[in-house]
Amino acid sequence: MRLHNKVALITGAASGIGEGIVRLFAEQGARVLATDINDEAGRRVVQSLPGDCHYLHLDVARLADWRDAVAWAEQHLGPVEIMVHSAGISFPAHIEAVDEAAWHQHMNVHGLGTMLGCQSVLDSMKKLGKGSIINISSVESIRPGPLFVAYGAAKAAMDAVTKTVALHCGEKGYNIRVNSVHPAATRTPLVQQYLDSAADPAALEQIYAGMQPLGRIAEVSEIASAVLFLASDEASFMTGHQMYVDGGVLAKPYPAGEGA
Ligand SMILES: NC(=O)c1ccc[n+]([C@@H]2O[C@H](COP(=O)([O-])OP(=O)(O)OC[C@H]3O[C@@H](n4cnc5c(N)ncnc54)[C@H](O)[C@@H]3O)[C@@H](O)[C@H]2O)c1
Repeated sequence: MRLHNKVALITGAASGIGEGIVRLFAEQGARVLATDINDEAGRRVVQSLPGDCHYLHLDVARLADWRDAVAWAEQHLGPVEIMVHSAGISFPAHIEAVDEAAWHQHMNVHGLGTMLGCQSVLDSMKKLGKGSIINISSVESIRPGPLFVAYGAAKAAMDAVTKTVALHCGEKGYNIRVNSVHPAATRTPLVQQYLDSAADPAALEQIYAGMQPLGRIAEVSEIASAVLFLASDEASFMTGHQMYVDGGVLAKPYPAGEGA
């Protein structure tokens, strides 16, 4: 029970990594407010769980939704102690193919969504005198691939917000920690959809697996357990940290001719 009675607000909770985090946090005794824009799937997730788990609609790019969710949590569960921003979108487009709409969509969810999320939970955490914010970034924010220009830029914006909020909270003495988790390819509906769009999905998965020194893609539970650590009091001296859960991919040297 590493999160016993802690109130956690999780975005992107209807699917993939966010859903895995909701399930693990519930197991660990947290009182969970799961949020998403896919209400049907989000409600299904919380209905399948025992304990104090609830669902609310929250579009991460809408300030009003954030305010409503935090107010609901405070009224029914208590001040928010943990916020995990796992809502995400990602579709490939290199610089010659990307358009303004794709750019804004990625920036709204990963950049604006992170800023609004951090801003919206601060008062609640300040009331409590402690808090932990975890933003689900990506290896693409550190080493962006050419196919994901808008996604890589939006995840880099998420990282910048994470660090600046960590520094601000440190300077103010709020006892609020702000960190990011950076998965490499992880088996979720987002990735499965991408694999399934290839002529040979199994061959594409093998290519992804081959990029990781551990030789496979990650499972959702492996990302969720890193998030659990950062959310728990065990990580009480960690803030502004980028935790790579990447099978070793970022430890690899650049291939000859690429980068430093
Ligand atoms: N799966 C991977 O390989 C991988 C790798 C690195 C990073 N990530 C990141 O992890 C996070 C979760 O990805 P996933 O693979 O679980 O994806 P997923 O598609 O399975 O889940 C994403 C969820 O976010 C929700 N969502 C989308 N837009 C939203 C919005 N505006 N407001 C609220 N909810 C919204 C979707 O409805 C969905 O339930 C994303 O930020 C993604 O970029 C994933």
